Amino acid sequence: MSFDAVPTAPPDAILGLSEAFAADKSPRKVNLSVGVYKDATGKTPIMRCVKEAEARILQNETTKNYAPIEGSTQFAACVQEMVFGPGSPALGGGRTVTAQTPGGTAALRVAADFLKKIAPQATVWLSDPTWPNHPSIFQAAGLAVRTYPYFDASTNGLAFEQMLSAIGDIPAGDVLLLHGCCHNPTGIDPTAEQWSRITEVVARGKFLTLVDFAYQGLAEGIREDASGLSALVRIGRELLVASSFSKNFGLYNERVGALSAVCKRGAAAQAVLSQIKACIRANYSNPPAHGSAIVTTILSDPQLRAMWEGEVSQIRERINGMRSLFVRALAERGVGRDFSFIARQRGMFSYSGLTPEQVRRLREEYSIYVVGSGRINVAGMTEIGRASCRERV
Ligand code: LMR
Repeated sequence: MSFDAVPTAPPDAILGLSEAFAADKSPRKVNLSVGVYKDATGKTPIMRCVKEAEARILQNETTKNYAPIEGSTQFAACVQEMVFGPGSPALGGGRTVTAQTPGGTAALRVAADFLKKIAPQATVWLSDPTWPNHPSIFQAAGLAVRTYPYFDASTNGLAFEQMLSAIGDIPAGDVLLLHGCCHNPTGIDPTAEQWSRITEVVARGKFLTLVDFAYQGLAEGIREDASGLSALVRIGRELLVASSFSKNFGLYNERVGALSAVCKRGAAAQAVLSQIKACIRANYSNPPAHGSAIVTTILSDPQLRAMWEGEVSQIRERINGMRSLFVRALAERGVGRDFSFIARQRGMFSYSGLTPEQVRRLREEYSIYVVGSGRINVAGMTEIGRASCRERV
């Protein structure tokens, strides 16, 4: 073995673009690749509720001792209430356990390691398309991945019947990954009626469902965005849920997320938690404390919580405003193609339908960075960008 023989790995499909963006010297460059929210001035602000919580934490913290392997129990309780909702059937009888993880990515990786332990032969079924890191994470844990249809290019909508039929055919013992809301990369979510039909198929299946829930609050509201997940909980099946607090608390670099396992009964939940802890211990040992302390402080204080909910609404409204403005601006410039679907998509992303060649031209000729699949981070658009576009036309 020699380092001389190590081949160069390809750049990451999303974060690799941020590296290329940083190296771009154009004064007009615009980064619409990675899913990070920007305000009207083009900044990624720290939420006011986060600053206030941090002041309290700084004042009150007395130790930097290790957190438990599964993180803080107070954080776990706050996450369960936020994700499943007060009074959820998932919360009775100790049947749900939650481990704090460094971001939603680590929640998925811990889930993958756990699945590899309990079901080494399982295949994980991912939507086509999906977040490019999904296959990497499950394959890195040694699991096979396959895809089910999701996007219908002819309608720019959900390939619902094909999706449903593919889910219905998932073999016993496999794992279905669903995006809880704000599907990444398409921005297309099932309607309430479609969720109930998905739930019926899940109820008949003999596979496990894992919900990736990284954008709670960015589509319609904190509770509203959990309606698909709540429907899955109501059928009483076991579930895994990977949460992220990067976007809805703006805590990108604090790396705060959680993995929850909904079991049938409390005794099973404790055994599952013990296995999840073993996976964590062999990976990063125990989670960082600061981000979870912020989330816990905000969610457990009524005044900070109200402030947070207000700030999440502002984020949501700005993103939706950018969607409508973008569609209008394209029409105003005489773009013949109907882009109204962009205004109907939800969350940070829009699957624009741009080809890889068009994406390359945008980057090379205009210094506008979007993901190779044509995914645009609408949450990164500002009217500043609009003004500079006008100059270019
Ligand atoms: C994204 O899809 O842009 C985000 O989830 C950030 C990431 O880690 O890729």
